[in-house]
Amino acid sequence: MTRKILVTSALPYANGPIHIGHLVEYIQTDIWVRFQKLCGNTCHYFCADDTHGTPVMIRAKNEGIGPEQLIERMYGEHLRDFQAFQIAFDNYYTTHSPENRQLSEGIYNRASAAGSIVEKKILQAYDEQEKMWLPDRYIKGTCPRCKAENQYGDSCDVCGAHYQASELIDAVSAVSGQPPVMKESTHFFFRLSDYADRLRELFTAGYVQNTVQNKLDEWFSAGLKDWDISRDGPYFGFLIPGQTDKYFYVWLDAPIGYMASCKNYCDRSGMDFETVWNGGEYEICHFIGKDIMYFHALFWPALLMAANIRRPDKLFVHGFLTVNGQKMSKSKGTFVMARTYLNHLDPEYLRYYYASKLSGDVGDIDLSIDDFVNRVNAELVGKLANLASRCGPMLTARLGGMLGRLDDAGKNLLNTLVAAKQDIIADYEKLDYASVIRRVAALADICNKYTEDNQPWSMIKTDAEKARVTLTTILNATKVLTIYLKPVLPVFAEKIEKFLDIQPQTFADVETVLESRPIKQFIRLVERIEKEKVDAMIDESKPVEQPAAPAQTQPTPASVLDEPLAAECTIEDFAKVDLRIARIVKASAVEGADKLLALELDLGGITRSVFAGIAKAYKPEDLVGRLVVCVANLKPRKMRFGLSEGMVCASGTGGDQIFLLTVDNGAKPGQRIH
Ligand code: MSP
Ligand code: ZN
Repeated sequence: MTRKILVTSALPYANGPIHIGHLVEYIQTDIWVRFQKLCGNTCHYFCADDTHGTPVMIRAKNEGIGPEQLIERMYGEHLRDFQAFQIAFDNYYTTHSPENRQLSEGIYNRASAAGSIVEKKILQAYDEQEKMWLPDRYIKGTCPRCKAENQYGDSCDVCGAHYQASELIDAVSAVSGQPPVMKESTHFFFRLSDYADRLRELFTAGYVQNTVQNKLDEWFSAGLKDWDISRDGPYFGFLIPGQTDKYFYVWLDAPIGYMASCKNYCDRSGMDFETVWNGGEYEICHFIGKDIMYFHALFWPALLMAANIRRPDKLFVHGFLTVNGQKMSKSKGTFVMARTYLNHLDPEYLRYYYASKLSGDVGDIDLSIDDFVNRVNAELVGKLANLASRCGPMLTARLGGMLGRLDDAGKNLLNTLVAAKQDIIADYEKLDYASVIRRVAALADICNKYTEDNQPWSMIKTDAEKARVTLTTILNATKVLTIYLKPVLPVFAEKIEKFLDIQPQTFADVETVLESRPIKQFIRLVERIEKEKVDAMIDESKPVEQPAAPAQTQPTPASVLDEPLAAECTIEDFAKVDLRIARIVKASAVEGADKLLALELDLGGITRSVFAGIAKAYKPEDLVGRLVVCVANLKPRKMRFGLSEGMVCASGTGGDQIFLLTVDNGAKPGQRIH
C-alpha cells in the first residue's frame, strides 16, 4: 500500500547564508524524501525562508536596505545553494507571504477563542536612542560571574553562565551602544500548560525518538510555562489581529510557514489544502535540529491543538555538525558556507559523507576532513564508481557496447545484492543511512572481488564472449547498487541511467535484469577528492587576515590561552588603581540576583556599598568582619539593585570557585596596598 506523506525541514533564517551545518538537515531530509518517492509513495517536501524577527530587521538596517529587499536577496541565495546540493523541495516558499499571514491570524484567533491566550505586563530592555525593544541577544555587557567583557544578555561565552539581561554589568544595547532602560509593556502569552495532557498523549503515540523523549520528560517535570508570542514594534513581522503596534513573535509564524508553503503548493497545483493538511490522509513529518526541539515538540503541536488542526505525526531530531571534532569555527576556517564549498568540491561528496554518518539519532555528527577525503576516495570513487568505470568503457570500446546474458555465477552474485533490498529499505525508513552505506560498501566489495577473480581485461583477449558475461554481471550489479544509493547520489544515479540507457530507476527496478541490449557512451561519474581543494576551501573560509604586525625580533609561540590577552597596560595605568584594605561590616543576599551579595565596606572611616558576584562561593554571615582588598577608586556604577561603589578583589574561575583576597589581621582598614 502506498503512503502519503508531507515532509518539512526547519525553515532557515533569512538573515544569513546556508552553511555546511544547515546542510546536515537538508541532506538528511532530502534523502528520506527521495527514498519515499523511489518506493512509490506520494511524498511532498516543503520548506521556506524564515524571514521575520529582529536579526533580519537589524541586518537590513545595517545594509541600508528594507527588510523586504534583504529577504528577497537571501531567498535567491538560499534557493541557489539548495539546488546545487540537489535538495529537491516540492515547494520552497517564504514566511513573509499572504498565506502565512492568513494562517497565522486564523490560528491565533482560534487559540484566543479557546481561552489559551492571556495578557501580561512584562519588563523589557529598551533602546531609547534606536527607539526599539532589545531581545537578550542584543544586549551586551560584562558577565556578572566571570567578568568577561562583551557578553550577550542571556549567557556568557567564556564561563557558560546563564543569567538575566538585567544582571549584566555595564549593559549596553548592541545596536546603539547606549545603556538600555527597563520599560513595561503588555505582551500576549500562550498557555502551554493547557495542553499538557494532550501533549503527553502525543508523545505516547511516538511523536519523537526515544532519546528525545528523555529531554521532554525533563521539560515536563520543570513545568510548562506560558509562552510570550508577541513583540512590540518596530518589528519585522505580522501585526497581531486587533493591535496597532504588537507583532507575532517570529517563532509563532515560523512553523505555520510549513503550512503556508503547503497551501501555496496546493493552490498552484489544484489540490485542496484543507484536505491535504487536515484530512488525515497524509502523514506529517518534521525534520529539525536538536536546538529547536522545544518549539517543535511542545509549542507547535500545542498551538495546533488550540486551533483544532491536525497535529504532526513525527518529529525527527538530528544532532549538530562538528568539524574535526570541534564546533564549527570561523577562525579555523571550518565554518564553511555552502557557496564556498561549491567553489571547490562536488556536492555529492558531502551528501555521501553525511549519509555515511547519519544514523537517525540525536548525536552530533562529525565531519573529519581527513576521514572525508579518505572515505569518499576509498568507497565512493574506489569501490562504487570503479565498478562501472572499469567495465563500462571496455564493453563499449571492445565489444560493441552490447550487454550479453548472465551465467549462473552472475545470477548468484546479483541474487546476493537483491537480497539486501528489504534491509536497505528498512534502514532508510528509520534514517539509518550509515547502515545503508555500510551494506552497499560491503556488497561493492563482493562485486570488486568478482571482477578481480574473472579478470575481464585478460579474458577479453582469449574469450571475448566470456568477458562479455562478466561485464554484463558487473554492470547489472552497478545498476542495483546505484538504485540503493539513488536517494543519496541523485546525480551519480542519473549518469548511470544515461550510460546504461535505462529509464529513471526506482526500488521496483532492483530485480530487473539488463541483458542483450546496447549501452551508451560511458560518462565520468565522480572524480577523486584532491586534498588541496579541501585545503583551499578551508582557507577561503578563514576571516580575512589582519594587516601583518610589525616584525618582531623574537618569534611568538602560538597562544595557548582560551581568551586572548587584553590590550597592553602600562605600569602608570596600573598605578591608577587604588587598592585599599577594607573591612566587611555587612553582607546580605540580593533579591532577584542569586549570584550577588551586597557588601558594606569600611575603608577606615569611609563606607562603601559594593555588589560582588560571590554568592555561590560565600555565605554572607561568614564574611562579616573579614579584611579584604578593595578597588577604592572605581567609578561607581548603577546596577539594577542600586549603586556599586567599588570592587573586591578575588581570584578563581567563578561560581563556587571564587577566593577573596584576604589580608591578615594586622592590616588596618583604609591602608593603601602598593
Ligand atoms: N528559523 C529557525 C527554524 C524555524 S522552523 C519553523 C532556525 N533556523 S536556522 O537557520 O538557525 O536553522 C535551520 C535548521 O538547521 C535547524 O533545524 C537547525 O537545527 C539546523 N542547523 C543549523 N546549524 C546546524 C549545525 N551546525 N549542525 C546541524 N544542524 C544545524 O532554527
Ligand atoms: Zn562569564
